[in-house]
Amino acid sequence: MKIAFKSGDPAKHTCDLLLVPVFGAALKGRALDLDAALGGLAGRCLTQGDLGTSAGATLLLPIAGGLKASRVLLFQCGEDGAMEGLREGLAAAFSAACKGPAKSLACLLSDGTAAGFDAAALTEETVLAAHYARYRFHRYLKTAKPVAAASLVLLLSGRVGAAQQKALTGAEALAKGIALTRTLGDEPGNVCHPTYLAKEAQRIARAHGTVKVEVLSEAEMKRLGMGAFLAVSGGSAQPGKLIVLRYSGGARNAAPHVLVGKGITFDTGGISLKPGPGMDEMKYDMCGAASVLGTVSAVAEAKLPLNVIGVIAAAENMPSGVATRPGDIVKTLSGQTVEILNTDAEGRLVLCDALTYAERFKPASVVDIATLTGAAVTALGSIATALYANNDGLASALLEAGEGTGDRAWRMPLWEAYQKQLKSNFADMANIGGREAGSVTAACFLARFTKAYPWAHLDIAGSAWRTGADKGATGRPVRLLMRYLEDQCA
Ligand code: BES
Ligand code: MN
Ligand code: ZN
Repeated sequence: MKIAFKSGDPAKHTCDLLLVPVFGAALKGRALDLDAALGGLAGRCLTQGDLGTSAGATLLLPIAGGLKASRVLLFQCGEDGAMEGLREGLAAAFSAACKGPAKSLACLLSDGTAAGFDAAALTEETVLAAHYARYRFHRYLKTAKPVAAASLVLLLSGRVGAAQQKALTGAEALAKGIALTRTLGDEPGNVCHPTYLAKEAQRIARAHGTVKVEVLSEAEMKRLGMGAFLAVSGGSAQPGKLIVLRYSGGARNAAPHVLVGKGITFDTGGISLKPGPGMDEMKYDMCGAASVLGTVSAVAEAKLPLNVIGVIAAAENMPSGVATRPGDIVKTLSGQTVEILNTDAEGRLVLCDALTYAERFKPASVVDIATLTGAAVTALGSIATALYANNDGLASALLEAGEGTGDRAWRMPLWEAYQKQLKSNFADMANIGGREAGSVTAACFLARFTKAYPWAHLDIAGSAWRTGADKGATGRPVRLLMRYLEDQCA
């Protein structure tokens, strides 16, 4: 979708659909002037209660006599200055707009500033909402109905400020990263296997001179001693890959921020086989990896002045004659041994070796992103990402990035008292911690491999996708990660 700014009289702007935000019960600001040209139609709809005052409500005026626009869509954003209401309103408006026949869209941005929103923030929200709503995964449909909406004009009353212009470019870069993450999550396991993820990384490197990629094979990982990773990848005919992307945008000697992604391209559970119903959803078990690829691509596109390294542990978890058995003991890259009591707790096994591998980069921070536990979904649902950290400063920075973007996380405990649940009779630790606090004990397992640097773990099992009729990848937590990295530049 092509997006541009324009200033001038919105009544004189020619387009197929004009989106008009409403803040509360009555029209204000330039929406009032616009309504005068409409002969007061919008105002009458509001008085009649046809739109309502709850954020996310929309009302289409299919005929807009008096305007150059063919139609008008009123969308409710709730009270002045309420960011969540604005987000809900924009999401609903663009979702409706992308389902209709309108090709050229315009949105009255100026009223948002009147409602107390910063012009740059308003631009970012609008651009992200438009791209988010336009996303489709139609690659495998014989007859796909393409989205009509092809262009969007952001209507301003005055001139475009530098910060607002920058917000547009930044949001475009971010939207591209989010769409990439969603596409990879939606791709089925027979297409999106570890080698496919490696090729995606190489494609990002070809598009950006600032990104270099290195892919380690199973043989190389064996030589290094990554026994935990190989215990997972070994059961599959698809070879596992450790994918390393290096983005250099900062000073040569500046310590990098490392993102580590769980890239289980399909999780059957292995010999500890998962139940059949809903197993298709385990194609999403690489959403951590997908968010690393999406974030690195957005960072490169936005040319952020810092160094970022993405490490992706890509493997398929399958049952087979050469698969790991419950009770098997493996040696990790760190030297610690693990008794694999359940082969379905495979995410922590591939991650622990990737996290030890990350030590070699002497990182400023390491954040891993993983669809790690069903217990995280039970605890927080799909609203908040579960956050764990061994460093309070890093935890606050991530929480703040989440609050600021609406891509929110909630901190969980990583207390020593939980560690005893990982006791094994035969090895340094077990890979499961029993029935209680499953998301916490999974994080506790990872904590044993991340003592060398400030580390945080994001369990995105709930936030990375939607189930039900609207099933699909959400692109989270790319927005949180991007904001976190932007904040590290300041
Ligand atoms: N990939 C799953 C976690 C998951 C579950 C993600 C549901 C999204 C939705 C992970 O590999 C897994 O199977 N975890 C087990 C751990 C258990 C065996 C200790 C779980 O959560 O049941
Ligand atoms: Mn599993
Ligand atoms: Zn898994």
